[in-house]
Amino acid sequence: MGEYLRVWGGRPLFGRVRIPAAKNSVLPLLAASMLSDGETILTEVPDLADVRQSLAIFKALQGSYQWQGNRLKLKPGSEMNAGVLPADAARAMRSSVFYLAPALHRFGRVQTPMPGGCKLGPRPIDIHLEGLSQMGAKVEWQGEELVVTAPRGLHGMDYALRLPSVGATETLLMAAVRAKGETILRGVAREPEIVDLANYLIQCGAVIEGAGSPVIRVRGQKQLHGAEYTPIPDRITAATLAAAVASACGHVTLEHCSPELLVPELLVLEQAGCGIQRKEDSILVERSRPLKGVGRIYTGVYPGFSTDAAPVIAAALLTANGRSAIEDTVFENRFACARGFTEMGANAVRAGRAVEIQGVRNLVGATTQGTDLRGGAALVVAALAAKEQSNIYGVEHIRRGYKDLPSTLQTLGANIKLCNDEQTELEVTEG
Ligand code: UD1
Repeated sequence: MGEYLRVWGGRPLFGRVRIPAAKNSVLPLLAASMLSDGETILTEVPDLADVRQSLAIFKALQGSYQWQGNRLKLKPGSEMNAGVLPADAARAMRSSVFYLAPALHRFGRVQTPMPGGCKLGPRPIDIHLEGLSQMGAKVEWQGEELVVTAPRGLHGMDYALRLPSVGATETLLMAAVRAKGETILRGVAREPEIVDLANYLIQCGAVIEGAGSPVIRVRGQKQLHGAEYTPIPDRITAATLAAAVASACGHVTLEHCSPELLVPELLVLEQAGCGIQRKEDSILVERSRPLKGVGRIYTGVYPGFSTDAAPVIAAALLTANGRSAIEDTVFENRFACARGFTEMGANAVRAGRAVEIQGVRNLVGATTQGTDLRGGAALVVAALAAKEQSNIYGVEHIRRGYKDLPSTLQTLGANIKLCNDEQTELEVTEG
């Protein structure tokens, strides 16, 4: 079965944690750095499994990179390339899709299998592809491989997305900054990571207006230069640690993270009975008394309650007194972790896209399996409340989005260790 996290819950968490740069910013930014001819330096970058996969693609497209601590230097290659993404890395994560537009601009061609990622339900890329074809790209499937070509470059367009997809907004923004003429993107997603991508591109010389609003206008540029850029902090990591405190009790300061990035998630934790102190660039989360159920919550596109935060906050509500439910309006299969919750003694049932929870007094230890990134983290959050040992498999999913989650929680006082089936405890820093 491989590696697992051994968690002995029931210990409150205390201390301070610095929140790293957002995975969902860093991944599009890595690909976007190929749109310029100069060097990009990204700072505060967490060394995540998904970041490594993205760097494997970057390198296969002749880019070079260098880590300097948590600074990442990126330089696109100068030679022509057939734009072929390495199949393993492309299939390992959804974010391989971010290379479509940069590779098209650089090489006039890109070839990739369908991007992979967490199994949250159907995740088509039709909006990415339809937008690119409206900009002049030819899109075809050769067996299992997607081949997109634009030997004479892309041109601007006036385009309305059929739904505000985060990834498609980012793809079309990246395509537009080097396209000929003006592009208007209507009905786009408004997530902070999109604003972050736009801010980086503006620093590289792009002309973009309206990022963070439903309409983005871009004036395409012939060339972009590199930039040094610090991505925004990871609001989902912050929500996960806040949920961990809500589950385990204690008080923890989340440093280098504006509370503005997770307004609905903090309000729900407050409604459940947590104390939240908001400062300009930090959040103190405190739980000292029993939690209460919060009724029914719906996730939504930003600034709504984040779909990625839903499983970890659901985990914190398993022992809240009364009823809670979270319905995910974005993905069909967000709550695969409900099975693990039940194995830990929770009263949590899936109903369509929702998880419905009747709080129980105590959770019990269990051996269970995380099957996606946030669901795996949610099982860890739940296990922190059980005053017994839990073994959580599926560490490879958690590593995709959290740098050293076990050692971060251990620093705060949790009893958590990375183990393998031979019962050898590995260094927690490997987590
Ligand atoms: C991004 C985030 C992910 C988050 C999600 C929603 C990254 C790397 N990942 O994923 O963590 O959970 O936003 O906030 O930033 N859709 C289509 N056609 C498309 C594109 C999307 O039908 O061409 C649908 C998807 O199937 C899904 C919904 O739109 O049901 C939302 O997906 P989208 O916003 O694109 O999410 P991602 O960019 O994949």
